[in-house]
Amino acid sequence: MNNQDKVKNLIDLRVKAKLGGGEKRIASQHAKGKLTARERIDMLLDEGSFEELDMFVTHRCYNFGLEKEKYMGDGVVTGHGTIDGRTVYVFAQDFTVFGGSLSETMAQKICKVMDMAMKNGCPVIGINDSGGARIQEGVTSLAGYAEIFERNILASGVIPQISAIFGPCAGGAVYSPALTDFVMMTEENSYMFVTGPKVVKSVTGEDISTEDLGGADVHAGKSGVAHFKVENEEEGVLLIRKVLSYLPQNNLEDAPLVECSDPIDRLEDSLNEIVPDNPNHPYDMKKVIHTIVDDEEFVEVHRNYARNIIVGFARFNGVSTGIVANQPNFLAGVLDCDASRKAARFVRFCDAFNIPILTLVDVPGFLPGSGQEYAGIITHGAKLLFAFGEATVPKVTITLRKSYGGAHDVMSCKQLRGDFNYAWPTAEIAVMGAAGAIEVLEGRTLASFNDPQERANYLAEKVAEYNDTFANPYQAAAYGYIDDVIEPRNTRFRIIRAFQALQTKKVVNPMKKHSNIPL
Ligand code: HXC
Repeated sequence: MNNQDKVKNLIDLRVKAKLGGGEKRIASQHAKGKLTARERIDMLLDEGSFEELDMFVTHRCYNFGLEKEKYMGDGVVTGHGTIDGRTVYVFAQDFTVFGGSLSETMAQKICKVMDMAMKNGCPVIGINDSGGARIQEGVTSLAGYAEIFERNILASGVIPQISAIFGPCAGGAVYSPALTDFVMMTEENSYMFVTGPKVVKSVTGEDISTEDLGGADVHAGKSGVAHFKVENEEEGVLLIRKVLSYLPQNNLEDAPLVECSDPIDRLEDSLNEIVPDNPNHPYDMKKVIHTIVDDEEFVEVHRNYARNIIVGFARFNGVSTGIVANQPNFLAGVLDCDASRKAARFVRFCDAFNIPILTLVDVPGFLPGSGQEYAGIITHGAKLLFAFGEATVPKVTITLRKSYGGAHDVMSCKQLRGDFNYAWPTAEIAVMGAAGAIEVLEGRTLASFNDPQERANYLAEKVAEYNDTFANPYQAAAYGYIDDVIEPRNTRFRIIRAFQALQTKKVVNPMKKHSNIPL
């Protein structure tokens, strides 16, 4: 072969490699409404920015006649490129090659880009579409998974890790995405489970479809495994790009500052009226969020899971900020096991990546009852308490209405090192709600009434007295637990000013190997 032939050979090899498992399997992938690994990467990255690595890697398996069936790249496309000009490392499993199943060499390719991402302090995005361990390879694929898991663990809190599930992700394979920061699933074609429907049927007798066992609705709404559910892959990759725009490249950097044309002192009169006079009436906390952030843009995380608490990213004067907010519109904004876990993980993510946290409080307390106690509300509630208390990023808390009992403490109160704690004049900060408090304080007197009307009148009188005394922000403000009572319409400005004053904040937790958060 002369040199020109060698170049031509290279070009031919590249063309062949790009076909993965071949045209027939690509057509079958498209027929399922799925894109190929390379199409996905092209859509995700800035145009023309992708540099592929390890295109010539092939498997080394000699079992079951596999030595006669080799595909260049071996079922995963890996490399780096840019998103909005910033470098990211990517891997996308190629379902057209042995169903994207994980071989020893595929694991090595994935580990290589993860190592490069760590060395260079860049995010890793993994696109999963795989039948799990490559069955013909036996234990080497198990070792390969564990190599990936270990890297996921060491990278946690150092570089952002995002997993898109655009096909099957089953068995132990689910644990790599589960170890990453954000998991995204598409409405169709995407499923995750530890054991599939057939095994479930044989072991427990339960008859359940793939969709009902581990589809996007299940994980985005019920289990909380997925942070984002998207209609299709295109929406998915656009959302990954959007989420990354709020994140720094690594834990030693800040998120990019975006130029802000939304006036920082914009007054919003509607906020003066948003809290209903009747404390039992709900309102939509998302309206408050959209009103105060830059350009009404809010990227919600876990939108369908534990809807009594809202978490997500927005900007204030161009600065990326994590928002945690009770949602009075759903279960009255009560804290339960799922809401506590959801918010705790988000707070820890923000703290790990230097993203300031705004907390909007309207919480009647923890959800009472045996269901929650048996499910471990004590431990789960402690997670959120721990996360807020441990966080050293700038923390601003605004109490809009209710802030009762233990939930008051948990929701980034002053003594959990809240930097600026403001309240609206509609705030009610107290040990417990009036009705419950009076039942305890006046129980004997209330029991002595024979006439129900007289009892009701007495109760109403005492509730009113309690509310006058405690259902306001001023007792907390008198102790300095609330730094100021602010006019609701001025909230945006006060938040921006507060975060500006915290730009140089430096707090260091005591030296330790790691904390022991109540898992
Ligand atoms: C090798 C595999 C494979 C696998 C699929 N293929 N899974 N090859 N190892 N695990 C191959 C198929 O033989 C087929 O090859 C091609 O990929 C496409 O698969 P189909 O079955 O035709 O596709 P589809 O109908 O879409 O079904 C997809 C699927 C199914 C649901 C994922 O393939 C499936 O159930 N696969 C096995 C899943 C599984 O049990 N995996 C092991 C789990 S244990 P051809 O040549 O026809 O194109 C595990 C342990 C991990 O993963 C532990 C980590 C700690």
